[in-house]
Amino acid sequence: MEQTKDTTVGVAHVFRGAFVHSTLEAPLEILDDTVLGVDKKGKIAFIEKGRDVKSLSAKWEFLLSDVRQLEPHEFIMPGLVDSHIHASQYSYSGTALDLPLLQWLNTYTFPVESQFKDLKFADKVYNKVVRRTLRNGTTTACYFATIHTDASLLLGEIADKLGQRALVGKVCMDCNDAVAHYKETTEDSSKETKRFIQELMEKKYPHVRPVVTPRFAISCTSALLHELGDIAKNNNLHIQSHISENKEECQVVQNLFKDLETYTDVYREHNLLTDKTVMAHGCYLTNRELDDFHKAGASISHCPNSNISLCSGMLDVRNALNHQVKVGLGTDVGGGYSPSILDAMRRALMTSKALKIQDPNHQTLTFEEVFRLATLGGSQALSLDSETGNFEVGKDFDALVVNVCVPDGPMDICGPEPTKVLLEKFLNLGDDRNICEVYVAGRRVVPFADKAS
Ligand code: GUN
Ligand code: FE
Repeated sequence: MEQTKDTTVGVAHVFRGAFVHSTLEAPLEILDDTVLGVDKKGKIAFIEKGRDVKSLSAKWEFLLSDVRQLEPHEFIMPGLVDSHIHASQYSYSGTALDLPLLQWLNTYTFPVESQFKDLKFADKVYNKVVRRTLRNGTTTACYFATIHTDASLLLGEIADKLGQRALVGKVCMDCNDAVAHYKETTEDSSKETKRFIQELMEKKYPHVRPVVTPRFAISCTSALLHELGDIAKNNNLHIQSHISENKEECQVVQNLFKDLETYTDVYREHNLLTDKTVMAHGCYLTNRELDDFHKAGASISHCPNSNISLCSGMLDVRNALNHQVKVGLGTDVGGGYSPSILDAMRRALMTSKALKIQDPNHQTLTFEEVFRLATLGGSQALSLDSETGNFEVGKDFDALVVNVCVPDGPMDICGPEPTKVLLEKFLNLGDDRNICEVYVAGRRVVPFADKAS
């Protein structure tokens, strides 16, 4: 990899050991005995062969004694990207998975989300979810909050304080027959979205940005969708929503938007399908719709735990990738019960294998490909891949220090193993105990500075 000369000589961290990451060409690149320097702005200054450490120390003015030498059972990988998570559903995650999507929303989700009017409750839940995801290695999260602007701003503040890279969405919905008090007027939804964006931008948090968030086509009138499309366009903002998650939902959308041929058309016609759009699920998208995603540069957040937990469907990721659609992984907490992208990787593999059981011609995903979906793929899905996603000079250092042999850890290593085996074991068997340190833009955010829970 080429090194660009930085005028601000000096590095904040230098690591030496095994690195693993993905590139556009290879889902898994293993860089054994490599030395990586992080500059004072948190960007990767160099990534070179370990044997060149002496000349690098002269050039970048660091002491060899300051180099952090990894152990043989340690490696560094890019931080995990959760491209779809409802921060507001964390309080009840791990429960309430006995109903299909639309009934689940009405019965469990809307009543809980309506409680985020209370900022004290929001503060408690949002601190917990940001901490929990950080310690599980989520360096970037794309969050749904609730309809409440001030609580959504608080989520941005907490992500910034704890050091997580985040897209934060104030949820927009002007239709809700089931829980009538949990909705906004069209006007308020648009006005409050503008206030949310303006106030969040004014904070100038370096790694927290707003994302325009229509809940989904069933919750929004065409008038509101138009407003939100305009807001996103005028401010060049990210957009997130849900699409084609469950069959009943698809049917309702078809009935609501009779003039439009497909679910994708609903968003596209309202300027909500752009190269900064991430849509969760997409289980029932047709090949034509996948082509529309590709043409627009829009992406899919694959949320396999949720898709199975709510019996929604199974996304054929291989087919989406064959259509050159960008795909990332999402936990979809609380439709998915796990806050960990390690879990999402495992569920993605299982879903792919279930598709193969149904159709022996299906080409399953490999663990290397799923690793890429969780890192570089996620950053592409969120259009943040110029900043994060893998180890390239000039990108921010978002990384996990993984130790596969922690005391009382979740797995055993029975002899010297190559880095690839350590990675595969970690992806299948590891958990947060193996994630010893988490960095976002060069800042060490795990272990936490304080012990508060
Ligand atoms: N569709 C609309 N809202 C939601 C939500 O909160 N979770 C999931 N999984 N799907 C949705
Ligand atoms: Fe969701």
